[in-house]
Amino acid sequence: MKFQKKSGFNKRIAGSVTLGAALLSSTWAMAQFPAISQPKHYPWSDTTLSPDTRADMVVKELTLDEKIQLVHGLGWQAMFVPPESGPGTRAISAGGFIPGVPRLGIPDLQMSDSVEGISGAGARGRYATALPSAEAMAAAWDPALSFEIGTMIGNELRSIGFNMSLGSGINLIREPRDGRTFEYKGEDPLLAGTLAGQELKAEKALHLITDVKHYAVNDQDNGRTTVNSIIGKRAMRESDLLAFQIALKDSGAGAVMCAYNQINGTYACQYPYTLTDVLKKDFAFKGFVVSDWGATQSTVQAAMAGLDIEMPGRESFGEPLKKAVETGQVPMARLNDMVHRILRTEFDSGIVDDPPQPQAPDVMKGFEVAQKVEEKGSVLLKNNRNLLPLSAASVQSIAVIGGHADVGVISGGGSSQVSPAGGSAVPPPPELANNPMAVFLITAYHRSAPLKGIREKAPSAVVKFDPGTDLASAAALAKSSQVAIVFAVQHESEGVDLPNLGLPDNQDALIEAVAAANPNTIVVLETGGAVLMPWIDKVTSVVESWYPGIRGSQAIANLLFGDVNPSGKLPLTFPLSEADLPHPIKINPPTPTAEHPAPRLPGFPGLAASLMVLGPSFDVNYDEGLKVGYKWYDAEKKPVLFPFGFGLSYTTYAYSNLSVSPGESPTVSFTLKNTGTRAGTEISQVYAALPDSAGEPPRRLVGWMRVKLNPGESKQVSVPVSRDRLTVYDEASDSWKLVPGKYSILVGGSSRDLPLTLAISY
Ligand code: BGC
Repeated sequence: MKFQKKSGFNKRIAGSVTLGAALLSSTWAMAQFPAISQPKHYPWSDTTLSPDTRADMVVKELTLDEKIQLVHGLGWQAMFVPPESGPGTRAISAGGFIPGVPRLGIPDLQMSDSVEGISGAGARGRYATALPSAEAMAAAWDPALSFEIGTMIGNELRSIGFNMSLGSGINLIREPRDGRTFEYKGEDPLLAGTLAGQELKAEKALHLITDVKHYAVNDQDNGRTTVNSIIGKRAMRESDLLAFQIALKDSGAGAVMCAYNQINGTYACQYPYTLTDVLKKDFAFKGFVVSDWGATQSTVQAAMAGLDIEMPGRESFGEPLKKAVETGQVPMARLNDMVHRILRTEFDSGIVDDPPQPQAPDVMKGFEVAQKVEEKGSVLLKNNRNLLPLSAASVQSIAVIGGHADVGVISGGGSSQVSPAGGSAVPPPPELANNPMAVFLITAYHRSAPLKGIREKAPSAVVKFDPGTDLASAAALAKSSQVAIVFAVQHESEGVDLPNLGLPDNQDALIEAVAAANPNTIVVLETGGAVLMPWIDKVTSVVESWYPGIRGSQAIANLLFGDVNPSGKLPLTFPLSEADLPHPIKINPPTPTAEHPAPRLPGFPGLAASLMVLGPSFDVNYDEGLKVGYKWYDAEKKPVLFPFGFGLSYTTYAYSNLSVSPGESPTVSFTLKNTGTRAGTEISQVYAALPDSAGEPPRRLVGWMRVKLNPGESKQVSVPVSRDRLTVYDEASDSWKLVPGKYSILVGGSSRDLPLTLAISY
């Protein structure tokens, strides 16, 4: 089918809610060109050769044009200047596509965002499992679950025909109002890096190229293309870059996506320090650096700084790069290195030898994983009088209020948005229904209604719903019910930050009104990250369920009724007030002026161009430095609403008998006892306080263990601590050092509940 005019294009992709879908029509993507047939036998088909040798053999055969093609992705430009034909027509979605070299058996790169499921599936009208948000995954603190998530994502990617994933996102939460908090894995580098590492290791094992993003210090979305993140080397190495280092080491990921922002005055996709000095030299990363979409701001500078692939949005590579190579501004050796990195990754990942075979996805497996993530990742924050779990046998009436809980659960927006199966449970306004940028503009809900899950658990109770839009009506229903459950939602979306950490749309007042009417009020939060809770003393119980995904209803009901004992712990601090943040007032792009009007995305006048287009640059000084998340609140001795690592259970645990084995990589051992009446899983955490002379925040997470215990059961728990986690980065010698002196090892159930302490010396 030929590409049609833009209005037709917009209609055809209506309902598909991935950015990829928005950017390359599905009909256009239908293969006009036959798929690359393989495998033929080439000298580099010999799988006994190393990926590097195989890549070198191919590089020698490539023409200049073929090399240039391999380092330049297609996609976005199709939206504005639709090509009529060409290899781009083989693309599955515009999430990302790089034509391969058929004559040499080099496959196309078919990429999809896959932070919380396959967002590029919608472009093919295909189903993909909508997982809970990445913050929920992190709250499970479960590397084995992350591996399972990666396996599920990998299988679904392959089932559609994708051979490269665009995820995980591991930017640390320095700015909790960042609109992409839900896409990331919390505020600690060890937790985020370890979990991403397992997820990507699983995807790689299924013969996919994996990617970790957004490199680096890309910590807010307002003005994401114009913000200049100012940060020192030590702070970067010990926080944001450390998360990448751990994830890459554990996973062998093939790609790193450089970010939109500037770091210390240089765009992240042309910053030699992060791309070459740290990533390629120090981390010994052998894969390729791929730009975020439209994040390549130069040709020669970016290529020489270490960028290997430009993804669409600008035209810095392509013809300009070819000219730069022909004139010697970019040496051929550097272009060969770029291509070598891409090809060695293709061989190393297995996408050449074992290309994906499209097939039906395993929907039931997806459901199972989605539900497990939500059950393990939901965090019980408050539970007075043990109101939870509810007893199906004794509860007679329940008021379910707000959050569209009668039809579904909320989802985060932007490129990670998985198309809601059957369309959004809360339909978008008609004027936006056909807008190809819908993922950035609408609030989508997955069709998994908590009301239904609750009704199924308590079949003999009267369970009524009130939308929560009229406070008097909600309070009246709450008053006439034995228990009131308020579902409070907060939407986050790529491209725009939250205005503040409060619940939007008068939901604080709704909760207050319900709590005043009913002493048994439970709040279920569906939020991207931390929110303020001015009503916390007035409600009885609070569950943080994040963005719950396609099996949210079943998981939430299992938690509320005790079929599942909550075990999740917060991967980020919930502050008491925005005044306590490192930057109480969020730093936003400068107000538009006549000279610098607000940039708009071409063709989409309604959409603020914080997404892509450049305006005047502005600085955000990350002067909290090393003190990210809990390290800030601890160092500043600030009380918090709920600390990092916190989460209640329907049982209780006691810690005793700490011992630490000697050696530079010590093993921390202690006894954990379940002192309650239900079986449960405790996430035991180990922190280290470094010697004063190290100049570090009070403590850092150095290990943890999930421990399953029956009522009354005790276990001896051992947590190995890597020596690396005890070191500090020394800027002068550009190396990591173990500072001599006294170290305290602290153990307990959250960063602020550490009953066991022992000192060791190095
Ligand atoms: C996002 C990336 C994403 C890319 C492709 C960009 O807007 O920042 O995270 O991978 O789009 O969809």
